[in-house]
Amino acid sequence: MSNYHIKHLEEYYQVYRKSVREPENFWEEIAEEHFIWSKKWDKVLEWDFSKPEVKWFKGAKLNITENCIDRHLATRGDKTAILFEPNDPNEPAENITYKQLHIRVNQFANVLKENGIKKGDRVCIYVPMIPELAISVLACARIGAIHSVVFAGFSSTALSTRINDSDCKMVITADGSFRGKKTIDLKGIVDEALESCTCVENVLVVKRINSDIHMKEGRDKWLQPLLDKASTECKAEIMDAEDPLFILYTSGSTGMPKGMVHTTAGYMVYTAYTFKNAFQYRENDVYWCTADIGWITGHSYIVYGPLANGATTVLFEGVPSYPDFGRFWDIVEKHKINQFYTAPTAIRALAKQGTELVDKYDLSSLKVLGSVGEPINEEAWHWYNDNVGKKKSPIIDSWWQTETGGIMITPIPYVTPTKPTYATLPFIGIQPALMDENGDELKGNQVEGRLCIKFPWPSIARTIWGNHQRYKETYFSAFDNMYFTGDGALRDEVGYYRITGRVDDVIIVSGHNLGTAPIEDSINEHPAVAESAIVGFPHDVKGSALYGYVILKDAGESRNHDNLRKEINQIITEHIGPIAKLDKIQFSDGLPKTRSGKIMRRILRKIASNEMDNLGDTSTLLNPEVVQNIIDNRL
Ligand code: WTA
Repeated sequence: MSNYHIKHLEEYYQVYRKSVREPENFWEEIAEEHFIWSKKWDKVLEWDFSKPEVKWFKGAKLNITENCIDRHLATRGDKTAILFEPNDPNEPAENITYKQLHIRVNQFANVLKENGIKKGDRVCIYVPMIPELAISVLACARIGAIHSVVFAGFSSTALSTRINDSDCKMVITADGSFRGKKTIDLKGIVDEALESCTCVENVLVVKRINSDIHMKEGRDKWLQPLLDKASTECKAEIMDAEDPLFILYTSGSTGMPKGMVHTTAGYMVYTAYTFKNAFQYRENDVYWCTADIGWITGHSYIVYGPLANGATTVLFEGVPSYPDFGRFWDIVEKHKINQFYTAPTAIRALAKQGTELVDKYDLSSLKVLGSVGEPINEEAWHWYNDNVGKKKSPIIDSWWQTETGGIMITPIPYVTPTKPTYATLPFIGIQPALMDENGDELKGNQVEGRLCIKFPWPSIARTIWGNHQRYKETYFSAFDNMYFTGDGALRDEVGYYRITGRVDDVIIVSGHNLGTAPIEDSINEHPAVAESAIVGFPHDVKGSALYGYVILKDAGESRNHDNLRKEINQIITEHIGPIAKLDKIQFSDGLPKTRSGKIMRRILRKIASNEMDNLGDTSTLLNPEVVQNIIDNRL
């Protein structure tokens, strides 16, 4: 079991050095010892960041579901693979063993095949956090179909954009979803989306809330009767190492989301290896990641990483506030959770409730706490450490991205000494670099710059679906021969990294990445709006919230501004989803612009953040007079 489970800091440094000096040998050993292959690779790595092109384990053949399910059957058949905790605490939890998972994935895979899905086809999955979500993901992988999961909080417009971009043949959805006290009409959203999608032939519908929905003849089918008839055996499709496994959309700096493409072998090896080490997962631990499978965190660390290790992974349907703000702690006690992985925004929301609810439950099973999705502020870090971990469970502040597929910078619990707000050290095999604005690498410690990665790791996204040029421009053009992350970071005196935040047009609100461009595009569709600019400003629970500056076509617009604000947020909800609503909307006469016509967001950001005495250089502005006006009317 060489190098597979790192146990102390000296070993980390040893293994890290090896992974950087001989990356091919290092990853080859891991791949050989810990996975099953139909055929081994001809070459471990082939790469060229200038094209850009990355291939891991070229020539190898495998199926990821055989690694996540079949190979555990002999030794862990009756072990719980997925532990489903429903929205309603009174509905019993469901333990799905590896044997049962095998059967359910096979049946689902057969239903996909019987409905015309074959290797390489794209299947859109718009399903809430119920077992069928994980099972449909695995069923696609079983037959080599490419899954594109769309978070079931996105609007119909956002859904149709994603369905059309990757030309999905099928949509899997549910009659609705439970979220706390509310139910959401998912099928209605799908119906609306499909009015503008001609590529979709079939819709499979999971029954979850028993609502009375419309089923379109010839297109829509209830899933359960099809599963009941399906065979429990489905041979796994043999895939190439570099065959696409899934597409997952992330926001970018244009209105069109980027369909990040992840491939099979490298993604499997890296997510499995990081899961084992970053959470120090031991056999029979119960692991819970509170993310939604609609995001990369759920793909890699609810489904693939844990199952590839034969782990027990919890799938929670509900929200942290239902039936009250003690729900997370109730679940930790009930299922004796050992590793708990959540987002800073959730921690801040729970910290606001005080400590009474967290003290009410027995959290002594916890061994490791994780944080992901945005920088964790010092206060939230301490609250988490003191009240949840009782100062005995290390917090792993793990930095990574949809594009990276797996965790990139993180403490290894019980190995790397933690430091509040620091993601600390690069994970095994990861070679970060900090770059200055001239494109030079900042060497040594105590430096701050743009965070890049110098060398490929197995789970790097290989392209943007249908747009390799955009992939190249977004990630490989800012700095020569480097993957550019879009984040800023600093390296302290001992070499620990602290992520300082996005340096591009992406704003992270409650852990969700939102591009400013798509939001501005939708606001500008309002008939009264001439132009708009969105910036982020600090928010005590969301981390960042959105502040919009809006110029009306008719400056003397007599309509009630509050109504206009509602309409603007309504448009955003329809185009993107409620997560992108603006907290503040200021109507202004102009926006500060450079002589070349670019909006000076830096200035707008400072004003929104109430840092008016620190606006920086405004001498290049074409229209400096608007700045004072914006300040005077600040909300
Ligand atoms: C941010 C989520 C600081 C970062 C896995 C990154 C973080 C973006 C951290 C990716 C962290 C994620 N500390 N910032 N521990 N983790 N981020 O694609 O800006 O949803 O680029 O992937 O989240 O978000 P994504």
